[in-house]
Amino acid sequence: MSEAKLIDGKLKAQELTDKIKQSTSDLKSNGIVPGLAVVIIGEDPASQVYVRNKKRTAEACGFYSVQHDLPENVDQSEVLDLINKLNNDDQIHGILVQLPLPKHLDEQEITQTIAPQKDVDGFHYVNIGQLSAGEVEQAFVPCTPAGCMLMIEDHVGKDLSGMHAVVIGRSNIVGKPMANLLLKANATVTICHSRTSDLESITKTADIVVAAVGRAEMVKGEHIKDGAVVIDVGINRVEVEEHGETKSKLTGDVDFNSASMIASAITPVPGGVGPMTIAMLMFNTLRAAKFSDKK
Ligand code: GUN
Repeated sequence: MSEAKLIDGKLKAQELTDKIKQSTSDLKSNGIVPGLAVVIIGEDPASQVYVRNKKRTAEACGFYSVQHDLPENVDQSEVLDLINKLNNDDQIHGILVQLPLPKHLDEQEITQTIAPQKDVDGFHYVNIGQLSAGEVEQAFVPCTPAGCMLMIEDHVGKDLSGMHAVVIGRSNIVGKPMANLLLKANATVTICHSRTSDLESITKTADIVVAAVGRAEMVKGEHIKDGAVVIDVGINRVEVEEHGETKSKLTGDVDFNSASMIASAITPVPGGVGPMTIAMLMFNTLRAAKFSDKK
């Protein structure tokens, strides 16, 4: 047994954003500046951090970047009015409403109001439908699974014929689109979730494991097959004791220490999937801007 290769999401994301920067300056010479609008509602501290990083990266790519901060108690109709305004704003090519939303808001109505051609999160039913139908070239693919897929391709290639991929988690943001991308790449795909019995016996047969459950260090080395590629989507904040002090640290859904002794390649948390998600948001926004040129 040797230690797994570390999949450096931070480095790959940097390489991607460098390319996006170049394409942006080419597009600018044709008079188009990619524009991204991020809407954040309320004060959720984790969302504030994510949105700040998205804005910073958008600016570093040379995009026109705007942020709309709405109060926690905003009305559904005010959110819909803002989205409609952004849908009709020619300077804006991509719109993202940061989730989760305050409980009183209707998430489905909000995400479905974003014009499909500006839906850089890939949450609109048009984009979900295209991805499910295997029309990956046309769809906006949700950023996290799109980033995971690039990291998988780097390690095992684009064609996953004969491979068994196990996705743990069935969310609309990660699990389901991830499964569709893996299917499109010819993998045999199993989706597991909180109601799956004997999860470990399934993950043990996987050549590729994507963990997106939101439970700290749930997937252990003993649950994976020798040589598997392990992608950890989890971002869990846990309290740890260090030198007699309680500290808070980020950890994934995978127990990195034990899994990295069994896997052939593994993503760290932080520094794995997270930076790739932001890079893919930039990629989708650039693509939306390029499409707008062809109208
Ligand atoms: N919250 C957590 N992940 C995401 C994401 O990918 N997009 C949006 N809009 N909100 C999120």
